[in-house]
Formats: sequence, structure tokens, C-alpha cells
Amino acid sequence: MSLTLAFDVYGTLIDTNNVVSKLREYVGDQAEAFSQTWRDKQLEYSFRRGLMQQYEHFGICTSHALDYTCLHYKADLSALQRESLLACYRTLPAFSDVVYGLKALKSAGHRLFAFSNGNMAAVEGLLIAADIRDFFSGVVSVDTIKTFKPNPATYEHFLSTSDSTVDNAWLISSNPFDVIGAVSAGMRAAWVKRSENAIFDPWGVEPTCVVANLSELEAGLKTKA
Ligand code: LAC
Repeated sequence: MSLTLAFDVYGTLIDTNNVVSKLREYVGDQAEAFSQTWRDKQLEYSFRRGLMQQYEHFGICTSHALDYTCLHYKADLSALQRESLLACYRTLPAFSDVVYGLKALKSAGHRLFAFSNGNMAAVEGLLIAADIRDFFSGVVSVDTIKTFKPNPATYEHFLSTSDSTVDNAWLISSNPFDVIGAVSAGMRAAWVKRSENAIFDPWGVEPTCVVANLSELEAGLKTKA
């Protein structure tokens, strides 16, 4: 059966940790912890803005989270250094399994979409820079409805925009909050467990399937068809 697949972008297709090498130049040994705090705060800010109904696009959450992280680590970065980190975030690479995985899914006849908290311009730019834009029939951004995943309205927005239904659409994400959001909204969802140590939130809502990376996904979907 041909499926419609909604790929989360940051952390699923695109490796946000790649910013660590740039960070090493600026904050030395703190680079890994800095990168993690930056990512955690970015997500927290998007969740809070969604709850408060004070929407600003994801790039603003990323920029404010960077400012917070600089304060937290007492890193006195210049405006130019901050801008170069944000520029780095706009051109992050895809994980190494992504091209192989997307090719296999396309050949199997599935329709692929990018579905992100990032705004349209940011996601289009990222996918083009990572050289994977052509795999996707389209980009669906939450920016259109001015709220963030995991608000159930975002998953409904994906289904209506991609002309799919809960019977034929899956979310593919490495982010447990996203998987739980999609399953709670009635979709099926694959959790891409990119690290052995990744923990799935123990809420009693399980992913429909778990894969280690995208090269396992085509086989994983077949077992649940
Ligand atoms: C996204 C982030 C939340 O691409 O991973 O939606």
C-alpha cells in the first residue's frame, strides 16, 4: 500500500549536532553540552509559545535559545559569532542514512513530505543545502497555522495539506514528543531511535514502530502494513 510519510526535519533528517564543530571554536570543551542546551531550550521555547499563543517562528525560538545558552554558559559571543552559529543552523547536513532511506521509500511508491516546526523558507533552504529536496512532494510547515507540534492541530494541518488521512499517513520522527503527538492525533508513527541511549517518554503511548535509522524504515513500515 502506498503511504504518505511526514518526515520531521530537525534531528530526524538533519543533524542539529553538526553545529558542535563550530561551537568548539567558540566555547571549547563546553561545545557538546552547549549544543544540547541550545536544542533543549529551542524546543522548550516553541512549546511555551504554543501554549501561551504567542507565536513567533521557529527561527526566533532558535535565536532566543542561543542567547539563553550564552548566558547559561557565560559565553560572551560577539554578534558576528552568534550570526555565524545561526547561519550554520540554516545549512546543517542530513544524517548519512537519509539519502539511502529516502531513495528506498520513493522506489517503494510512497509519497514523502517534510513536516516541520521550522518555517517554509528555513526548511526549503535546509533541504536544498543538504541536497535532499527532490525526494519530497512538498514541505508542510506549522508556520501556516501559527502554532507548533505537538499541538493536535498541526497533525490535522499535515493531513489536510497533504490530502491524506490517518489510514494512510505516518509521521517519521526521532523526537518522542512528536511521535506521541502524532499517535495521540490518530496517526501511525515511526520513532527513529538515532542513539542507543535515546529514551522514549514513558507516557504509555507507544510508537507504531521503532527503527535505528532511515535505511531500516522501508522494512519497518512493511511489517506494520
Ligand atoms: C521539526 C523539529 C521539531 O523539524 O524537529 O519539526
